[in-house]
Amino acid sequence: MKIGGFELLKSYLNSADQLDLVNDLRSVAQAAPMRSPVTRWGKPMSVKMTSAGRVGWISDRRGYRYEPQHPDGMDWPPIPDRILTLWKDITGLTRQPDCCLINYYGEGARMGLHQDKDEVDFSYPVLTISLGDDGLFRMGGTERGGKTQSVWLTSGDVVVMGGEARLAYHGVDRIRFGSSSLLPDGGRINVTLRVVEGVS
Ligand code: SIN
Ligand code: FE2
Repeated sequence: MKIGGFELLKSYLNSADQLDLVNDLRSVAQAAPMRSPVTRWGKPMSVKMTSAGRVGWISDRRGYRYEPQHPDGMDWPPIPDRILTLWKDITGLTRQPDCCLINYYGEGARMGLHQDKDEVDFSYPVLTISLGDDGLFRMGGTERGGKTQSVWLTSGDVVVMGGEARLAYHGVDRIRFGSSSLLPDGGRINVTLRVVEGVS
C-alpha cells in the first residue's frame, strides 16, 4: 500500500497474543454488549460493535458520535492493559487512546469507505488490530472518489494510519468467512484505537 503514513505490521501478534486479546475483548463485550448500530438514515450496519475506554463510538438515528456511555446506559469498560501496552509499544506515545472500538464482522459484513474524522487532533495516529478471518481492506486518498488500493488483512496484523493516511478514506469490502480458526464461530474482529480529545 503506497500511502504516506500507512503502516502494516504484518503478523505483529503471534497466536498466543491473539488468543489473549480475544479473551480480553470477550470480557469487554460481557460488560458492554455488542450491538448492530443503524445509520442516521435508519439503515442497519452489517458489523456489530462495542467499545472500551473513556468514550465509545456509536451510531443511531441522531447520527454518529462518541459517547461516554453504552446505549444501554453503562459506562464503557476500561481499555484492557494488553491493548494499552500494544499502543504504547507501537506508537511510542505516552498519551493513551480514549476509545477502543471493537467491530465484529460476521459472514457477509463489510464497512463502507469512510474517514475517521470525529476526533480533535489528527496528529495522533489511528491504530487497528485484525483478529480472526481475513478482511479485504481498501484505502484511497483524502478525497472521496479517488484512486484506491487494497490489501488483505489477516489475523494478528496491526495497521497504523498516521500522516497522510490519517484522513484517508478506507473500508473493508468483504471478509473470507471461515478463513481463520481463531474465533470459534468464525468472523473477523477489528479493534480501532483512537485519541479522541486533544488535551490529555
Ligand atoms: C474501520 O476503519 O472502521 C475498520 C477497519 C477494519 O476493519 O480493518
Ligand atoms: Fe475507520
